[in-house]
Amino acid sequence: MSGRELPETMDAQVIREHGGPDAFEPAELDVPDVEPNHVLVEVAATSVNPVDTKIRSGAAADLGPDLPAVLHGDVAGTVVAVGAGVDDFAVGDEVYGCPGGVAGTGGALAEYALADAASLAHKPDSLTMREAAALPLVTITAWDGLVTRADVAPGDDVLVHGGSGGVGHVAVQLAAREGGIVHATASDEPKRDLARNLGAQYAFDYHRDVADYVEEYTDGRGFDVVFDPVGAGAGTLEGSFDAASLKGHVVTTVARGDVALDATHTKGLSVDVVFMLIPLLHDDHDGRRYHRDILRRAASLVDDGDLRPLLDTETYGLDEISEAHRRLEAGEHVGKIVVDVAGE
Ligand SMILES: NC(=O)c1ccc[n+]([C@@H]2O[C@H](COP(=O)([O-])OP(=O)(O)OC[C@H]3O[C@@H](n4cnc5c(N)ncnc54)[C@H](OP(=O)(O)O)[C@@H]3O)[C@@H](O)[C@H]2O)c1
Repeated sequence: MSGRELPETMDAQVIREHGGPDAFEPAELDVPDVEPNHVLVEVAATSVNPVDTKIRSGAAADLGPDLPAVLHGDVAGTVVAVGAGVDDFAVGDEVYGCPGGVAGTGGALAEYALADAASLAHKPDSLTMREAAALPLVTITAWDGLVTRADVAPGDDVLVHGGSGGVGHVAVQLAAREGGIVHATASDEPKRDLARNLGAQYAFDYHRDVADYVEEYTDGRGFDVVFDPVGAGAGTLEGSFDAASLKGHVVTTVARGDVALDATHTKGLSVDVVFMLIPLLHDDHDGRRYHRDILRRAASLVDDGDLRPLLDTETYGLDEISEAHRRLEAGEHVGKIVVDVAGE
């Protein structure tokens, strides 16, 4: 079912080989036909997540679509066609989600994206498209880690590393909303101020000695919950184990790499690894619906004023995607980098 005549072709950015940010090249592709249980979304905006850069470079080639590929998971846009079996959406609905851009599915770096309807929710009314595009992947990740798995409770001492980062800035807000006493880390004072403005009661430099800040903020007891979106590769995970209390909970988004588990044993820690791409990579509809439910609840939080995206100061269009990836990989961004796809 389509609301209006759609063009046969669309502008997109594709990679034909893995490589640096310049691996992207413009392409004119066929507009996808809508399939059962899917909708076709006219893409307004997408955002850059580190996994998009890792897929592009080949560092996470195993997670990516076959080449040539249209990358990027996060999308905000308008439904322009609805497939058989879809009851939740109608043509004209404004939606957001993280439906693809990984193995088996096309992504959002194109004027139109075919999306499994189970992965989408209606966009928060109070956000622009570009603001909504910043939220899906990081919100699903932070929610799964802190609300579902760690089950942050009122009064819990929660440590969130990278409190102004993509995942971290949502984690700070969710943990605060659950009633946690949020302690955020960041590398400089402006970023620590951002974390405080998002709900962190305390913010400090992650370069500090772990024992030192555990003593200062928890009287040596340790944090009930540590949310670590830096993790194994960068070597923070063992410090997160050290920062946790006896029987505390450590949640990470990066567990690839060698990590000493000694402290998890001696403290009886619960360790959760969030990998939000699992439902997409394994075509798991229950998992997609779980993501959709998070996005629905997040939309309510946003419209109630309890959750907001932190957008990087730089803005990019579809034809500037290489620059957007370069900025993220250089670590020059603060918050989410959004790419406007419409209006090119
Ligand atoms: N498994 C999953 O499902 C999943 C989902 C989302 C993200 N991830 C992964 O999680 C990581 C973060 O993603 P993101 O979108 O949040 O990236 P991001 O926006 O680039 O943020 C990275 C954050 O890490 C902080 N940081 C860097 N080094 C640190 C250290 N040694 N100790 C504490 N904090 C440190 C940075 O703080 P400063 O800016 O102050 O330096 C920044 O806030 C990436 O590796 C990404 O691939 C995984």
